[in-house]
Amino acid sequence: MRVITIQNKKGGVGKTTFLLHLAYRAVELKLRTLVIDLDTQANASTGLTHDYGLLKLPGGAAAIFTVQRPEDLPIRRITPQIDLLHGHTRLDEVDSLFDVSYLQQRFLPRQVPLLRSLPYDLLLFDTAPSAGPRQIAPLFLADLVLIPIIADDFAVAGLAQTRDDIEAARRINPSIRTQVLVNMYRANSSSQAKALDQLRNIASVPLREPFFPLRDHVPSALSTEVPVWAFKTAKAPLRALWRNFATETLQ
Ligand SMILES: Nc1ncnc2c1ncn2[C@@H]1O[C@H](COP(=O)(O)OP(=O)(O)OP(=O)(O)O)[C@@H](O)[C@H]1O
Ligand SMILES: [Mg+2]
Repeated sequence: MRVITIQNKKGGVGKTTFLLHLAYRAVELKLRTLVIDLDTQANASTGLTHDYGLLKLPGGAAAIFTVQRPEDLPIRRITPQIDLLHGHTRLDEVDSLFDVSYLQQRFLPRQVPLLRSLPYDLLLFDTAPSAGPRQIAPLFLADLVLIPIIADDFAVAGLAQTRDDIEAARRINPSIRTQVLVNMYRANSSSQAKALDQLRNIASVPLREPFFPLRDHVPSALSTEVPVWAFKTAKAPLRALWRNFATETLQ
């Protein structure tokens, strides 16, 4: 089983966009996949199901913190390949219930093996733009942490913090790998170029290349429920970029 989590405390950087593209590619590659949506906005859940009623439905992804038996996880089948533990508006109750010591003493010894024992090829975590147990818990079992960023001064400060969180998680999960995905890249922006120079100097957090350009085709593709590579009006290099990203990440 591969476990991938997508995180950044900053909102609107593309976390859910990357997750949905990985999920689309997982279907094409016939990987049995469980999406665990830990965001109260539940964009991944509604993106996959178009069921906005899920937003008000308790349980879902919150169950990963407490269930004692895999069969008690409230998993929803979306397609033959994709299952979902959905996000909803009350997921933030988790944040006050489970502190770091709970995560270390209970989540790590009990919930991590339970999740790892599930019959999937791939676990994909989408996370909220905040910090807390819903961001820390996936780091305890992730093989790969994807960190989408938009290159600006805030990203420089945010990435240094994220690096510290990941270093702390590495003491528990030493095999964790990280990749920064530079998203909404504008090749002609001098402020982005300056921020990228600074980001390259943040050691131990490699920037994945090539970068992902700012293109309207990305939201347009998702609004028609296809990945960028299947969106006919997108140019071939953009389609290849997104498809290669997903293929390489799932290899
Ligand atoms: N490369 C891109 N070019 C243009 N638009 C993009 C690109 N990547 C993502 N977007 C758009 O930017 C918006 C924010 O993306 P997304 O919802 O994936 O971010 P997020 O990090 O999950 O946000 P949140 O923190 O609120 O969960 C969406 O409308 C998405 O379609
Ligand atoms: Mg999101």
